[in-house]
Amino acid sequence: MKAHYDDIAGQYAAYANASPTRRAELRTMQHMAGDVTGRSVLDLACGFGFYGRAMLLAGAASAHGVDQSPEMVALGRRVSASAGDAMTFQASDFLQLAPVREYDLAVAAFLFNYAQSLDELARMAAAAFEHVRAGGRIAVETMNPDYCLANGDCSKYGVRVLDDVPWQQGAKMEMEFPGDPPARITVFRWAREHYEHAFAQAGFTDLVWQAPCLLEQDRLAQPAGYWDDLLRNGLAAWFSCTKP
Ligand SMILES: C[S@@+](CC[C@H](N)C(=O)[O-])C[C@H]1O[C@@H](n2cnc3c(N)ncnc32)[C@H](O)[C@@H]1O
Repeated sequence: MKAHYDDIAGQYAAYANASPTRRAELRTMQHMAGDVTGRSVLDLACGFGFYGRAMLLAGAASAHGVDQSPEMVALGRRVSASAGDAMTFQASDFLQLAPVREYDLAVAAFLFNYAQSLDELARMAAAAFEHVRAGGRIAVETMNPDYCLANGDCSKYGVRVLDDVPWQQGAKMEMEFPGDPPARITVFRWAREHYEHAFAQAGFTDLVWQAPCLLEQDRLAQPAGYWDDLLRNGLAAWFSCTKP
């Protein structure tokens, strides 16, 4: 079956590679991941492999990306072939992924915001748990539970939020990536306690929310005040937790 991102794989990669927030997002994921030297990494909803590839560059022993979009996976393979890195890829809904291996670290950037209900969020957290070894961790980037459209649509950071309406116990958001025409996606925003509950129910412990890791170099690279909106009302939030 054709996956939504199949039509916009290249457009998403172009946006992500040009995004002014991407370096800080990566730094935040790396901060949560800690020292990855020699670690095995599973990149859930890997897209074109941005995070898994970065973990390899940081010294991980292996990085395996899983994405339900065959076009995204094909793009990831092309990027890795041209970069000469050893990231491996698999086109699959991660909920269907057989637990053939337990990884030291799972990273999941913008995956759990596709849960359309709290039941689905719980199923997704439980599925992720199966792929992490005891003592391993998962680092997650997802939609900021505190985001409020009335306080800004985030377009200066690349993605424009078009709509944000109540949905079950959370919110449903319509957003677009730049391009001609812009690419529309729908995501779901859940509260902090929803994530905390789903991941605890799955068996994860020690869930810690992480603020974006902005450095002096980020501030110097942009006009004064550029990052204020990101800190006040950014689109993303991060957390990590452990499989005991
Ligand atoms: C916004 S992209 C993020 C890609 C990558 N993590 C990044 O940050 O560059 C979201 C990705 O999630 C994938 N995705 C959504 N639900 C999925 C699922 N159940 N299993 C695997 N991939 C999924 C989509 O195909 C898409 O490539």
